[in-house]
Amino acid sequence: MTAIPKTMMAWKKVASRPGGFDFVETSVPQAKPDEVLVKTHSTSICGTDLHIWKWDEWAAENVPINTTTGHETCGVVIAVGSEVTTHKVGDKIAVECHLACWDCDRCREGNAHICENGQIFGVHTNGAFAPYFTVPAINARHFPDNLTMDLASVQDPLGNAIHTLTGGPVRDATVAIHGLGPIGLFAVNVAKAMGASKVIAIDWDNQTRMQLATKLGADVVLGKGDDIVASILAHTNGQGVDNSCEFSGSPSALSNTIYSTRMGGYVNVLSVYGTTKTEVPMNDIVFRYLHLKGINGRKMWSTWETMHELISQDKVDIETIVTHRVSFNDCKLGFELAMGGDCGKVVVDF
Ligand SMILES: NC(=O)c1ccc[n+]([C@@H]2O[C@H](COP(=O)([O-])OP(=O)(O)OC[C@H]3O[C@@H](n4cnc5c(N)ncnc54)[C@H](O)[C@@H]3O)[C@@H](O)[C@H]2O)c1
Ligand SMILES: [Zn+2]
Ligand SMILES: [Zn+2]
Repeated sequence: MTAIPKTMMAWKKVASRPGGFDFVETSVPQAKPDEVLVKTHSTSICGTDLHIWKWDEWAAENVPINTTTGHETCGVVIAVGSEVTTHKVGDKIAVECHLACWDCDRCREGNAHICENGQIFGVHTNGAFAPYFTVPAINARHFPDNLTMDLASVQDPLGNAIHTLTGGPVRDATVAIHGLGPIGLFAVNVAKAMGASKVIAIDWDNQTRMQLATKLGADVVLGKGDDIVASILAHTNGQGVDNSCEFSGSPSALSNTIYSTRMGGYVNVLSVYGTTKTEVPMNDIVFRYLHLKGINGRKMWSTWETMHELISQDKVDIETIVTHRVSFNDCKLGFELAMGGDCGKVVVDF
């Protein structure tokens, strides 16, 4: 193995304005006792990275200037901290970006993804738009051999999709996926893989993504030209779906989920909304006896276990969802592609 350099060029948020990223020479981090040092293989661009690019209110409040962002990543372990017994040099890993304290009430009850003292790798701390990064060993997840390194960085959004879907019934259930960004597309594919009886995929007007949804197994694809609620009811004997998942970030789609889920059904919301107060038809939630659940991150580690079972059985079509790859030097181009929306997942290669 080649020697580890002392410095590297990292893609950092350097200015508090839209854009404001630059390549900056910085030290290669050293693994603390409980950490591993990883040579980055690839890092995919997430909607969160686009918020940081746009520098909206959320980003300005959460991301320190000079942070190396990037949290959907995979690579090879090249050094381990003095206390690490679970990993060795040469291990292939992908990152779980929720950094937990493992000591608070939430962590102890098995909800480390909502740790009271949690931070997000690549948002609150330096991440992986850089050729090397460190991460606690517990966050460096081994993955099945049949998953190639080129596709391994997307386990974060794939896990988001699985966590959201499994907030309600999937096998033999009718499922509606609202919003066909990369996570919604993963959810369409996983819902079919997990045995949903009918998958209805809904976007607003993104034709590329609507076509991808069909390729990924959606039984019905709807868009802005359709009466979404009426169409979903028509496809479910007038009852509504068993399980609605909201991935669009649009308040009108959130209302649609509530009107088009069957009595006593499940509405699982991963989306983050641009406004802090989003109106919902509350009485319908009450009288329709709906289970409405907010979803954050991935369960550590049951979501990862479900995901690895599906991957081991070759049940997820990741290749179709990764539509674009750019080299690290072309990070900006990758961000522009992702912001344009005419894509599935965009992956940056190192
Ligand atoms: N809670 C979490 O842990 C977590 C983690 C990651 C992402 N997210 C959120 O999940 C959501 C999905 O992320 P993504 O990157 O896959 O998606 P994205 O933001 O790239 O895509 C959203 C899609 O929704 C479509 N859309 C817009 N209005 C719509 C409407 N009224 N009905 C149906 N579709 C509509 C858009 O055309 C687009 O294709 C985002 O809101 C993101 O912020 C949450
Ligand atoms: Zn992400
Ligand atoms: Zn904790």
